[in-house]
Amino acid sequence: MMRKAKIIGTGSYLPERVLTNSDLEKMVETSNEWIVTRTGIEERRVAGEGEFTSTMGAEAAKRAIELAGILPEEIDYILVATLTPDYIFPSTACLIQHAIGAKNAAGVDMQAACTGYLYALSMANAFIQAGIYKNVLVIAAEKLSSITDYTDRSTCILFGDGAAACVVSSLDKPGLSIESVRLGADGEHSQLIIQPGGGSRCPASIASVEQKQHYIKMSGNEVFKHAVRRMESACKECIDAVGVSEQEISWLVPHQANLRIIDAMAKRFEHLSSDRIYKTLHKYGNTSASSVGIALDELLRSKIVGTGEKLLLTAFGGGLTWGAALLKSEGVTG
Ligand code: ACO
Repeated sequence: MMRKAKIIGTGSYLPERVLTNSDLEKMVETSNEWIVTRTGIEERRVAGEGEFTSTMGAEAAKRAIELAGILPEEIDYILVATLTPDYIFPSTACLIQHAIGAKNAAGVDMQAACTGYLYALSMANAFIQAGIYKNVLVIAAEKLSSITDYTDRSTCILFGDGAAACVVSSLDKPGLSIESVRLGADGEHSQLIIQPGGGSRCPASIASVEQKQHYIKMSGNEVFKHAVRRMESACKECIDAVGVSEQEISWLVPHQANLRIIDAMAKRFEHLSSDRIYKTLHKYGNTSASSVGIALDELLRSKIVGTGEKLLLTAFGGGLTWGAALLKSEGVTG
């Protein structure tokens, strides 16, 4: 029989430095009013001196391990979802493994843009279900400020830095059981959100730097339409697979890209009051892979989630990639 995987601890980390909309008004031709009405974002966090994807990820991981009530040595495997690794190689997973003292763990980086947390969660779930590992540490960490063009008003207003983590385990502890995960991808639209430079197709050169190829480029409008459609269908497939209805969901935790995308999604979940759709984007913006994980951690630490309550996570990002995960509370309280 397959084992059941449970999230037994979550953690997150946000840098202290705040970049507000009025700060951005001084950097590009924009306004607080435009940013708030078009995106819902009021401010975002930016990594300080000496803060990197690995240091933020390590901090989130320590918090998740502490809440799980296990030792770093008990971690078997570390999965780091990021599109802003410290280095191309070695992996950020290895840097974090050392930083947190998880000396018995293997580790690897993976990349699914903003859907990274859910892709990593699905792999952790599979490792536990198959009985290969007992404790898998999932980390999503992003220093998007390192690939954001602060002269491009169409992208620089959106992104922020931050990290999230969770321990996925077969241990008999209170937590959130993973009931269902659904993932998807469509490489036909790979060019809609892209960092063109720095990979093997366009290695760093004077020309690549001059042409700003090392920054995020996004066709926001196009992405918007795909995001709503794909997250809606991922949510439906995810809950249909286990015979759960939309009415049974008590929390929706969507990717924090744009309030208008979240509002469009919310129409499907009409029974949920707006305070049951967990939002962080007004204060953190879009933190890519970390976004869903940060929101989940904050939700669990600030709200009471009763036994049996069902949480639906969903995300969408570059690739294109998308996904949804259904979690059921088994004794978690805020
Ligand atoms: N301030 C003022 N005006 C601006 C700004 C700004 N910061 N940015 C763009 N504009 C202007 C444009 O130039 C355009 O002007 P024009 O009509 O004269 O040409 C006008 O505002 C409208 O621009 P649009 O791009 O059509 O604006 P839209 O309403 O689509 O909002 C946004 C843009 C916020 C990017 C939106 O499309 C969006 O959120 N898209 C989804 C992004 C997303 O989901 N990403 C997820 C994945 S991210 C990842 O994987 C890393």
